[in-house]
Amino acid sequence: MAVSARQVGSKSLSPTREYEPYLEAVWGLKNHWYPAAFSHELPDRQVKGVMIAGHEIALRRAKGKVYALADRCAHRGVRMSKKSMCFTDEHLTCWYHGFTYGLDDGVLKTILASPDDAQIGKIKIRTYPTFEKNGMIWVFVGDEDYKPAPIEADLPMRITSERDPNPIAYLLDDHTFVRGIHQTGNSNWRLAVENAFDPGHILIHYDNPLIVATDRKLALGWQPTAPEAIEVIDVPDGPKGIMNRYDTGLYNYIMENQVTGMKVYGKQDHYLRTSMWVPGVILVEHWPITHFAQYEWFVPVDDTHHEYWEVIVGRCNTEEEYREAEFKYINFFEPLGLRDFNGNDLFAREAMQDFYAEMDGWNREELCKLDSVVVGWRKLATRYNRGIQEPPTGARRA
Ligand code: FES
Ligand SMILES: [Fe+2]
Repeated sequence: MAVSARQVGSKSLSPTREYEPYLEAVWGLKNHWYPAAFSHELPDRQVKGVMIAGHEIALRRAKGKVYALADRCAHRGVRMSKKSMCFTDEHLTCWYHGFTYGLDDGVLKTILASPDDAQIGKIKIRTYPTFEKNGMIWVFVGDEDYKPAPIEADLPMRITSERDPNPIAYLLDDHTFVRGIHQTGNSNWRLAVENAFDPGHILIHYDNPLIVATDRKLALGWQPTAPEAIEVIDVPDGPKGIMNRYDTGLYNYIMENQVTGMKVYGKQDHYLRTSMWVPGVILVEHWPITHFAQYEWFVPVDDTHHEYWEVIVGRCNTEEEYREAEFKYINFFEPLGLRDFNGNDLFAREAMQDFYAEMDGWNREELCKLDSVVVGWRKLATRYNRGIQEPPTGARRA
């Protein structure tokens, strides 16, 4: 039987103390890179509004380059992304009264109908660092004066050949197929991360068409049998992650349950490996099929929503390989994988939300052996985050 903090009482420390800061990270971890949009969602001279960890951000593309500014006009506080108004490649103009800000520095450069106004040059909105590669746009979100880390430090690390005889492609490589979707989930970001990395949750995929149609032998759950089954990866100034070492033999693959008579029908073995990285991005290697990988981000939006990013990555050295990957993506990976299979994950994490948000779930949960992996993630996020996010304050004086 599982033992909870309440049952242990004063006899020992509450297990939650070991990851206390994580429990406070309702709005996410700050000073990290988060995906903000796919490149195709931001045409030139358009403005797109996003919210990441409580930060309202206006994305704007000019001459191909992506800029990110605070999405609240300093004048009367409207979100500038509600209506695109772009007259030049250097400025973003608010659609309401024409306050016009420099894309580079956020400084008020002019007011359309008050060009000699004393406020010009004195007011500024904040800007955010951006990065774009392989069809994705990231924004570094957190404290304005925090020096951004290299984006590689906030992505799953490159898996070397020593660790996997058949390494999958790295997201930022050239000649890489990168395609996916994102959608808003009605749960806190932490419940989303924990759902994805939980080796006991595979039960929810038991009857998914992807599994049944491929006759895949996907266990009811993967039960770690030794601490070494889970490996913490700490690269100095680089990625921080935790990996389920399914290649070690240190897991019990639960294929049936005798009490209920339930068992797995699939016959085909399929090798995969999962790892979760700060600030909350999972890499599933060799998924949905061998040689491809699935990256997922669980980007905090506010305290009760996350943006769920699902991206398939594969190596494509030729046009023909790219066309084949696209064919598989359109007809298999997206409908059967991202939408159907992972739709069950979205369902599960939304089903946890009221318990954790309103019913003291973080203290009432009764964890079991399977959850050592989830607890491992909580400790990792506690140890390696660059700060706990709070909602931003918005516009200010230059
Ligand atoms: S609210 Fe933006 S210019 Fe007035
Ligand atoms: Fe899942």
